[in-house]
Amino acid sequence: MPVSNAVQGAVPRHVAIVMDGNGRWANKRFMPRFFGHEQGMETLLRVIDTFADRGVEYLTVFAFSSENWKRPGEEVSGLMNLVLIGVSKYLRKLAAEGVRIRIVGDRCGVSDKLRAAWDEAERLTARNTRINLSVAFNYGGRWDVVQACRRAVADGLQPEQIDEQALARRMALAFAPDPDLFIRTGGEMRVSNFLLWQTAYAELYFSDCLWPDFGATEIDAALAAYARRDRRFGGVRHPEPVPQGA
Ligand code: FPP
Repeated sequence: MPVSNAVQGAVPRHVAIVMDGNGRWANKRFMPRFFGHEQGMETLLRVIDTFADRGVEYLTVFAFSSENWKRPGEEVSGLMNLVLIGVSKYLRKLAAEGVRIRIVGDRCGVSDKLRAAWDEAERLTARNTRINLSVAFNYGGRWDVVQACRRAVADGLQPEQIDEQALARRMALAFAPDPDLFIRTGGEMRVSNFLLWQTAYAELYFSDCLWPDFGATEIDAALAAYARRDRRFGGVRHPEPVPQGA
């Protein structure tokens, strides 16, 4: 039966975030866009800790989309470098804080150096259980559906064997429950090809806050909004009363 979060006071198990607004945050300060991404990285580190404190088990963030390659070359290489810097600067801290890191997305097309950094981050944190951080990098929701279909074919599945479960098992986030709460910062109200399959029944929450300014206050507002939602998963809010004597 559908459950009202208002009754449960529920904390979402899985939160997915589109971290938007770094460029505008930097522009407002007459700084290059890269400065916004640097601040965005610092924000991410604080946010992971806050969500873990609030009891969220899975946090998935959109760090670089399949479409972000269209950005100016300088910004793309800046973002790649930021990941390398982030791994060397913060990996041990995150590992010590119990964060398990996974990278989801198409690993083709990124440099060997970056792939090696991802591998190290995953290996070093593989036993951690406080919170599961998935960084979607070179990721697109449509790419994910296509790669799951390709894997099903490569695994020799016949058309009649392909159902929702068969694809879900082959999606990039197969290890996690579907996101309960989808947050986008930066004031835009769109999904932008993030987790198209997995967010079928996620609660959507849009914040005007630019990502570098996102913090505990905004997180608590998002969690409070989530706790007030009635999740019906296609069912009804209040089941019909059963007639007496039935
Ligand atoms: C969107 O803001 C943000 C991105 C495309 C990059 C997100 C990256 C980070 C938050 C920091 C790095 C974190 C990792 C793990 C690499 P935008 O540039 O589209 O902002 P705008 O809409 O204001 O232009």
